[in-house]
Amino acid sequence: YASQTSSLEVPDSAPYRENDEYADVDWDNLGFGLMPTDYMYVNKCGAGQHFGHGQLNPYGNIHLSPSAAVLNYGQGLFEGTKAYRKENGQLLLFRPEQNAIRMKSGAQRMCMEAPSVDQFVNALKQTALANKRWVPPPGKGSLYLRPLLIGSGAVLGLAPAPEYTFLIYASPVRNYFKEGSAPLNLYVEENFDRASRRGTGSVKTISNYAPVLMAQLRAKKNGFSDVLYLDSATKKNLEEVSSCNIFIAKGRCISTPGTNGTILAGITRKSVIELARDHGYEVEERAVAVDELMEADEVFCTGTAVGVAPVGAITYQNTRMEYKTGSGTICQELYNTLLGIQTGVIEDKKGWIIEI
Ligand code: COI
Repeated sequence: YASQTSSLEVPDSAPYRENDEYADVDWDNLGFGLMPTDYMYVNKCGAGQHFGHGQLNPYGNIHLSPSAAVLNYGQGLFEGTKAYRKENGQLLLFRPEQNAIRMKSGAQRMCMEAPSVDQFVNALKQTALANKRWVPPPGKGSLYLRPLLIGSGAVLGLAPAPEYTFLIYASPVRNYFKEGSAPLNLYVEENFDRASRRGTGSVKTISNYAPVLMAQLRAKKNGFSDVLYLDSATKKNLEEVSSCNIFIAKGRCISTPGTNGTILAGITRKSVIELARDHGYEVEERAVAVDELMEADEVFCTGTAVGVAPVGAITYQNTRMEYKTGSGTICQELYNTLLGIQTGVIEDKKGWIIEI
């Protein structure tokens, strides 16, 4: 890895340092572009072994064999989580152990070694603290933390890598879509599928994401924000958007596709379901027919990067359907509650927040 000589050896239990100054960033104009920060966390382990202590290195390029399993066969997973800065200067992580658990189960499916939950959460804490000056001021966004687990060892024949690298880098972010917080305009994709039954749709593997680019780019060219996929078996039920889960609301009933193997089990999805039930809504996780889009009052998307994002319109087979957005919507209520908890503005009664 780059800059090995200046890397910092830190025990996994000790936060690296605190730097209360802010980086020189235009905090009012953050989108979701990569803004390199000071440090990245790196940890390696051999196949059949356990991860030991990692280290914080200056952020930079990594050295990989051209025959690394991740480059040749896509043996890799990623995660996404955010650190928020509270008014009192503390950093807050949201349910990071959920990302750790998802990475562990994804690693099993992809035949990889994985860090333990404690190692994962400690690594996130270290990365957030080391890059503290890149965490936006309260109300201006968050520090997106991107854990990667890759088959970094060399292979030629198709086989699991002999070495794995767990890495976390960071970037300050705010709105994911160029629409900002304005409602999304989705297109129901019928020519491409995102995932197939008994495939890896529920796994946060890197190999699920490049295949959605073609449909996404085509939709964007035609003025849409993104595409909404249907199930590959029947083409009758909703799946998810390229980078987030989908919910529909009718009256006080909220529905979202159940996690049946093709749906990514989003941590925001799971949290929104729990918050909605707390707020007295009925929430159903089930097959949601595309035809139900005709009747829905509201549609919204959830994801770590996306947050809780309102959908203003969906086009399906040349019919454009429009939905309620803005003040008084369920989407806004859940968005405010979730973001309030994540940013420390609303008391966390669920044990979701880790203060660092
Ligand atoms: C996230 O929401 O954090 C994701 O991992 C989705 C990604 C395509 C930005």
